[in-house]
Amino acid sequence: MEQRALTSSEQELLDLAKAASLKAYAPYSGYKVGSALRCEDGSVFLGANIENASYSLTICAERNAIFRAVLEGHQDIREIAIYVDVDQPFPPCGACRQVMAEFNPKMKVIFANRNETIISDLGALLPGHFSLEKV
Ligand code: THU
Repeated sequence: MEQRALTSSEQELLDLAKAASLKAYAPYSGYKVGSALRCEDGSVFLGANIENASYSLTICAERNAIFRAVLEGHQDIREIAIYVDVDQPFPPCGACRQVMAEFNPKMKVIFANRNETIISDLGALLPGHFSLEKV
């Protein structure tokens, strides 16, 4: 985990994640999460969490963005930024880490709240992720 200053392209990605958080649908938890990912070719995809009255149907912001990217033909995900407008730390959940690992086990992960920004990567956040031979 690093706590250096963000580069301008990392800051741009985090700003997009922050903007995406405003689109979250989170009437049950109140946690409005936004994410923005960048692919190797520079294309960017956004996500936000979308909750449901049947709680387990909720989709997290990170998986929302990843699924959108894959649907548009982009699997080469380089980095993802996540933002939540709260005071406490909000690292990505285990399910989202596993989904990130599917596309890049070394993905850069930037997560931020009102007070702090952490730069990490999946090698640190999810060592030994589950995988199968891709057919
Ligand atoms: N959530 C995310 O969007 N990403 C995570 O990595 C963890 C949790 C959402 C799901 C739910 O809508 C709310 O945050 C509280 O758990």
